[in-house]
Amino acid sequence: VFRPGPRPRCRIRLGRGALARLVGDLVQERPAHRWVVISDSTVGPLHGAPLAGSLREAGLAVDTLSLPAGEGAKTRATKERLEDELVRLGAGRDVGLVAVGGGVVGDVVGFLASTWQRGVPVVQVPTSLLAMADAAIGGKTAVNVPGGKNLIGTFHQPWGIYIDPAVLESLPESTYVDGFAEMIKAAVIADSRLFGALVRGMAALRRREVEVLEPLLARCVRIKARIVKRDERESGMRAALNFGHTIAHALEAVGDYSGRHGPAVAVGMCVESRLAQGYRGLPPRDTERLETLLVAAGLPVRATLAGTLDELVAAAYRDKKVREGRVHCALPLRIGRMPPDVTVAVEPDDLRRAATAVIDFAPPTL
Ligand SMILES: NC(=O)c1ccc[n+]([C@@H]2O[C@H](COP(=O)([O-])OP(=O)(O)OC[C@H]3O[C@@H](n4cnc5c(N)ncnc54)[C@H](O)[C@@H]3O)[C@@H](O)[C@H]2O)c1
Repeated sequence: VFRPGPRPRCRIRLGRGALARLVGDLVQERPAHRWVVISDSTVGPLHGAPLAGSLREAGLAVDTLSLPAGEGAKTRATKERLEDELVRLGAGRDVGLVAVGGGVVGDVVGFLASTWQRGVPVVQVPTSLLAMADAAIGGKTAVNVPGGKNLIGTFHQPWGIYIDPAVLESLPESTYVDGFAEMIKAAVIADSRLFGALVRGMAALRRREVEVLEPLLARCVRIKARIVKRDERESGMRAALNFGHTIAHALEAVGDYSGRHGPAVAVGMCVESRLAQGYRGLPPRDTERLETLLVAAGLPVRATLAGTLDELVAAAYRDKKVREGRVHCALPLRIGRMPPDVTVAVEPDDLRRAATAVIDFAPPTL
């Protein structure tokens, strides 16, 4: 049991049987009088509906709602439609929401819960590895707008986070692998021993061996919870979680957000690791170790971008993290160690050099 954020209770339960514990906790503690389980069109039938059934069997009042699967549904329009449905269901201030799905469901439903009747409890039940290791923890909620990712959102700590690795069985291989990018990031920013454990355990992790996965996942969850507890609103340390993400977001923006998040973060870490060599004195050997682990995880360490270097740099300058016209990157000193100042303003020429070492630019020809 961890308690991230300033709320007295955000319980995180991780392990097989966590969903049964959720039913028991809601029955016993009754943080809401009725529940709406919200999932996406893929996860709903697999995991949302069975959970709603268990909650009903336990005597709770439960409705279910759904959104389309995928990043395309992370919009204001989806939130608005769900709000209309809550009105239609006659939901009041006594409702609680249960988000069952990947990071998209978690972000949309968390946002919905934070503004519905000025804020109601939300329970996060992450079902993708990425959401288990990262997205579900920390209380950040958001939707995308055409001008950018996650531009509109809130901080709203969940009432509880229930992580059952058994649900990962139904996850497609490429989506499963995406989760390793955030697990490796957690190790790089905070825990060199975890990095070593990921290296040793990667073959078993690729085979989805739960006995190996569970303790490593728990360490990633602890890292995120600890950072968020110290810096909920990202005034300092929380920015460490952005390692690799400044470049990842720029890559995603140039690619119109049509690609997967995991590979973008992997390539982003390779670029930012090179920046860390220059700005922090990160040993080049650490960049090699990072790349070897990413390859073992099934993630890319090089990319070909359908765009130009100028477009990539321009996208990096449009990022939310740009302050006073300068791109800031969270750069480690070495694997497992972030400096206290966490981010550093990066010169455009350095950005260009690091990006060119990792990314091939193939602007589409007319
Ligand atoms: N709030 C945060 O702090 C935070 C942090 C990191 C990422 N994010 C957000 O998370 C999102 C990415 O999360 P994601 O990769 O989970 O994406 P996602 O929610 O789109 O899930 C990926 C795909 O996997 C499917 N899926 C999920 N669980 C499944 C299961 N158990 N079985 C079968 N299919 C399953 C989904 O239906 C979807 O098609 C992005 O929008 C990102 O911005 C948020």
